[in-house]
Amino acid sequence: MASRKPIRVAVTGAAGNIGYALLFRIASGAMFGPDQPVILQLLEIPVEGPQKALKGVAMELEDCAFPLLTDMVLTGDAEVAFKDANWCLLVGSKPRGPGMERADLLKDNGKIFIAQGKAIDAVAADDARVAVVGNPCNTNVMVRLDENRARAQLAQKAGVAIDEVTDLYIYGNHSPTMFADFTHAKIGGKDAAGVIGDEAWLKNDFLPTVGKRGAAIIEARCLSSAASAANALVDHVRDLVTPGKVHSVAVSSEGRYGFAPGVWAGMPVRTTASGYEVIDSFAMDDFAKSKIALTNDELVGERETIKDLLA
Ligand code: NAD
Ligand code: LMR
Repeated sequence: MASRKPIRVAVTGAAGNIGYALLFRIASGAMFGPDQPVILQLLEIPVEGPQKALKGVAMELEDCAFPLLTDMVLTGDAEVAFKDANWCLLVGSKPRGPGMERADLLKDNGKIFIAQGKAIDAVAADDARVAVVGNPCNTNVMVRLDENRARAQLAQKAGVAIDEVTDLYIYGNHSPTMFADFTHAKIGGKDAAGVIGDEAWLKNDFLPTVGKRGAAIIEARCLSSAASAANALVDHVRDLVTPGKVHSVAVSSEGRYGFAPGVWAGMPVRTTASGYEVIDSFAMDDFAKSKIALTNDELVGERETIKDLLA
């Protein structure tokens, strides 16, 4: 029986594909735990079709009779959705289609996050935390899908259970330049590169497969990843509220690992009781440094492209 005070979780783009895979997991307790009641504050664009679809999603949420879901707010107004929100999950934005790069979404989606950031500042709870899922992710804190993808690829190649693959973190952009650092990863507690025993595969197959996985899914589904993206957000937030967890998050680099100060780049963090601390102690070899330099250059270029929005 849930007795704790409910937390307010705002989700944008709630009638979209990721929204449909996400809301039921939040309401079931997968994100904040089995004892934490939630109020879902759901934002969709103020247009008849999406608003009607949002009502349908809310009807289904009711029909699940989730004990932890204590209330729902459905709205087309960002200031209503973010009012007193403790968590703001920014999903609502344009996905890319076949043949597009995530960077193609930069200008359009960037504007959405600027406006919503202001609304969050104005009305959300003082302790509000924000996770941006909408692409592109150069300023998006979520590289968890990439970490999950990388672990799955290594587990498959080594023929081991997924839990055997540990210490595998994502550096840089959520784009094909990202560096899934196999050089420090472990499989069954041993050096992953040694267990795989195929450096060429790690460099020339594994890295591009993980980096281009989003495009491969769009090619196969004619839609961008949704269930795995929602699952990654559940993992991301759950680990951020679980002290001791070490996981990949895009953070303001502050020059760590050679990233330009101020760009937001994936790297490992350890969740603490009051937030997280960045783990900046992994020593990178020349190959890793060259990969990080590449993804850093892309992030710096993308920041340049939207500098007028940041001004
Ligand atoms: P979708 O088109 O199915 O749904 C997006 C929803 O957002 C739509 O219902 C739309 O009406 C709504 N929306 C658009 N602008 C909005 C705004 N300003 N306020 C509120 N709602 C708004 O798309 P999707 O498949 O759910 O993907 C959403 C985003 O997530 C895309 O940008 C996609 O590229 C991105 N994505 C990120 C990751 C990741 O790992 N970070 C993974 C997959 C997808
Ligand atoms: C993904 O990685 O699947 C998402 O970011 C969607 C995309 O456009 O690649």
